[in-house]
Amino acid sequence: MKIDIGTIQQGTSTPVSPTYQELLKADARAVPAWATARGEDFVDVGPVPRSRYYDPAFAQLEMDNVWKKCWQIAARAEEIPEVGDRVEYAVGTMSFIIVRSGPDSFKALWNSCLHRGTKLCTDYGAGEQIRCPFHAWTWNVDGSPKHLPGLWDFPGIKQEKMALPEVPCDTWGGNIFINPDAGCGPLKDALGVLPEHFKDYDYANRWTAVHVRKKVRANWKTTAEAFLEGWHLSETHPQAQAWNGDSSTQYDVWEDEHAQVSRSTTPSAVPSPELGHQADARRAVIETITSVTPPGMELPDFDTIENLDRAFAAEWRRKVLTAMTGVDCADKSDTEMLDAAQYFMFPNFFPWHGEGAPLWYQFMPLGDDPNACIMDVRFLLPMPAGGQRPPAARRIDLDFDETYQAHNVGFGLFDEVFDQDQSNVPRVQQGCQSGSPETKFVNFGLYQESRLHAFHARLARLCGV
Ligand code: FES
Ligand SMILES: [Fe+2]
Repeated sequence: MKIDIGTIQQGTSTPVSPTYQELLKADARAVPAWATARGEDFVDVGPVPRSRYYDPAFAQLEMDNVWKKCWQIAARAEEIPEVGDRVEYAVGTMSFIIVRSGPDSFKALWNSCLHRGTKLCTDYGAGEQIRCPFHAWTWNVDGSPKHLPGLWDFPGIKQEKMALPEVPCDTWGGNIFINPDAGCGPLKDALGVLPEHFKDYDYANRWTAVHVRKKVRANWKTTAEAFLEGWHLSETHPQAQAWNGDSSTQYDVWEDEHAQVSRSTTPSAVPSPELGHQADARRAVIETITSVTPPGMELPDFDTIENLDRAFAAEWRRKVLTAMTGVDCADKSDTEMLDAAQYFMFPNFFPWHGEGAPLWYQFMPLGDDPNACIMDVRFLLPMPAGGQRPPAARRIDLDFDETYQAHNVGFGLFDEVFDQDQSNVPRVQQGCQSGSPETKFVNFGLYQESRLHAFHARLARLCGV
């Protein structure tokens, strides 16, 4: 059921933690159009059956109707920089070789030998041919057959007919997407409002500075949904309450037949409204500044600064980013420098906007187990001014019970944040299955969990349930 935004209470605010749109009015620079844009495609999906998180039959429905039919994020272009470089993209039991087939072209080839099915790529690979490790059947990097030894023994097979099958593959902003459905529409339709909102954000010219892939003991939806709302911050990430306006977060949903994009924007340099009379506006700015200042860089003398406000925090962040990358941030608005603008493109892609938290998430079901998934996270930094593109960071793989902090993966304060999120997720997965038989549904808040409503409404529609 579609909901009129006027009927929803849109978060909470206080005099020191105004709503996001109120904060934008105080921004000294021109506020970009993406920040003031509002999505109004809110729906009420009603109660959602818990079984959708663990029932193998529902996982199969998703595989057939979502993963085999939708455009989905597969990789970043900079992680396969040379022609012939490739990486596996595995989603459920499907697997693809994402390969740079030319200087600026990519292909997604089914990752299965045409002899007896051996996986041809199990991680990263390189070189001008794709060679099966079993009996050496070999393809060029565009999937055309190169040499099939022993072919004399296969009278029914003609080499020229033995190209590796491919699926549609396209890019946007250095992000590589695939769609296993050969008859699908164009990627641009599935991107929805993303190209418009990111048109001044040079996504193609960012590079992966940190890259961590984690196995999670939970359904892919359980895991992704832990990142679709900011409401949990006060309970799950209490260390961030002093300087993040969690319940001032603005939620937006843009939906059409081909695309669903949603967004949460959490202001920083303001305290959480949940702190009530303990909220401290100056402290919020100080914590914002200290959180982004790298070790070794001198902090301002806070006691001597009268206007310790968001504008000051944003200017400090500009200075830090310029010192770190050489990039001139003079024309960037305060919200771009400070706030957590996190977008989601159905079904598995979370590109963040701005420099406040330049993150990138990807989620995939793991094999045929509805209780397991993969979460892939990157820090995407702007290219150093005038410099060479730095090589993409090597991916760090964390197993089910490994933590970000123990491996000191390099996300800074987000190492702790991700560990806190990951401590909840398996409990949600288990708890969904261990409740009273009478408790068959999960319930979502109308506004703060509006993105979950939209996500499940689209999922159910695609799955025909
Ligand atoms: S299975 Fe690949 S060459 Fe035999
Ligand atoms: Fe979180």
